[in-house]
Amino acid sequence: MTLYDDVKNSYFNVSLTGDLFEDVKRVCDANQGTHAYLWGHLLDVANEAKNLAKRFGLDEAAAFTGGLLHDIGGLVPEQQRVALAEELGIDVLPEERLVPMLLHGKFSAYFAADIFGVTAPEILTAITYHTTLHANPTDLEKVVCLADKVKWDGEGTPPYLTDLLRAFDQSLEVATQYFIAELFDSDLLVVHPWLREVYGVYFDKTSR
Ligand SMILES: [Fe+2]
Ligand SMILES: [Fe+2]
Repeated sequence: MTLYDDVKNSYFNVSLTGDLFEDVKRVCDANQGTHAYLWGHLLDVANEAKNLAKRFGLDEAAAFTGGLLHDIGGLVPEQQRVALAEELGIDVLPEERLVPMLLHGKFSAYFAADIFGVTAPEILTAITYHTTLHANPTDLEKVVCLADKVKWDGEGTPPYLTDLLRAFDQSLEVATQYFIAELFDSDLLVVHPWLREVYGVYFDKTSR
């Protein structure tokens, strides 16, 4: 029995119908005891991503799917993340070894494909990169990332929300640039190299 078998038995032990919405809901319901917030957050982000996709002329269904699955990898307990990534052949960067929470987007994309049957590469990368984006993100990646920041899973209202919403009135690009600067300058445990890359692209400097 592999660690992945163990993870699937522990957190994905539901009968899947092939209907993505129903299946994600079933998985969230099965984990209600430890992750009560998860379904509400996934649904909020999926709907927000769909709205943003509509506003900016992108694939609404792809954005919804990306939002619906973006944090499903968070079901893997912190202490199992590095070992599971190594078992699955998922690259573990030094910053992710230090802060295994940062692996959850990679797991979400892995489960999206392996458990939920999502095959579209543009959706899978939007899931993978939703926490920090990366150098030269696609518009779909920006929409899923920013939907997660508008509908954050923290307490109360995010401090950047008013300015972020105002930035959307200018463009998706301005909103992305605004949020990357906010994130880069915030109190991070580590700076993920993907964040350093995208910050460098927007602001032409990489030192911090
Ligand atoms: Fe996340
Ligand atoms: Fe999230």
